[in-house]
Amino acid sequence: MFSDKYIFLLLLVLFNSTSFAESRLDNQKFTKTQKIVKNVCMACHGMDGNSLNGKIAPKIAAQNARYLTIQLNKFKDGVRKNTLMQGIAASLSAEDMDNLGIYFSEQKLQLSAATSNGVGSMGEKIFRAGIKDSGVPACASCHGPAGHGVPNLYPRLNAQHSDYILSQLNHFRVLEDKPGTVYAPMRAISVKLTEQEMKAVADYIQGLQ
Ligand code: HEC
Ligand code: HEC
Repeated sequence: MFSDKYIFLLLLVLFNSTSFAESRLDNQKFTKTQKIVKNVCMACHGMDGNSLNGKIAPKIAAQNARYLTIQLNKFKDGVRKNTLMQGIAASLSAEDMDNLGIYFSEQKLQLSAATSNGVGSMGEKIFRAGIKDSGVPACASCHGPAGHGVPNLYPRLNAQHSDYILSQLNHFRVLEDKPGTVYAPMRAISVKLTEQEMKAVADYIQGLQ
């Protein structure tokens, strides 16, 4: 029989997650955070934040720590609406949310491929140059040339599941128009994109390395 400890270690190896030695979290915080991840987050996001299916949950591995923590706080405060995540965030303390942000930011992102939007595609054009006629700015101008984001400012997008990107773009469209809010630029951009353009750029982003 395998002991619980062995199975846990095996899981850690399988999910390719960080160990305490590589973390900014001290031993105690790391252990506590890892327990939350195993008991709560793993089912949907994976132990290392590389969810397998964008319809179940987004990838959160290697995302900016601060962005992750802010999103958790938004779910908890009901500012960002999602039944599943609101329920989960409700049970997390401010410190848990800080630590979970750091934990997932330290995980290695697993890359994916685009289905059809590679070099020269409509998706690439929108990402790199925007759409002049409808006033859509280049995604790269904020999210970075390879979609790696900018710490404390813009979230990482590369290798994200296209299904999740599409659902987020549609979600931004229907947010209340509040100038000065952090999502205001994304709302302004998403209302200018057609469904076809959103699908193309989402597919391209999924393949970004
Ligand atoms: C039952 C499945 C499920 C579980 C369990 C779960 N999540 Fe999520 N998570 C989701 C879904 C679905 C979304 C996308 C929500 C949306 O569409 O706005 C999400 C979104 C997020 C986001 C926002 C990501 C982004 O890119 O904006 C963060 C951060 C997050 N989850 C962290 C966690 C953490 C930390 C845990 C464990 C404490 C956890 N989740 C547990 C399903 C889950
Ligand atoms: C002016 C800067 C800016 C530009 C240009 C921009 N974004 Fe964003 N984007 C943001 C900010 C800021 C956020 C985070 C919003 C928040 O915290 O709610 C964001 C968030 C997102 C998210 C949600 C990420 C997640 O993990 O949930 C997606 C998807 C996204 N942007 C896609 C795009 C696409 C596609 C384009 C190009 C068509 C684009 N963005 C152009 C600033 C920008």
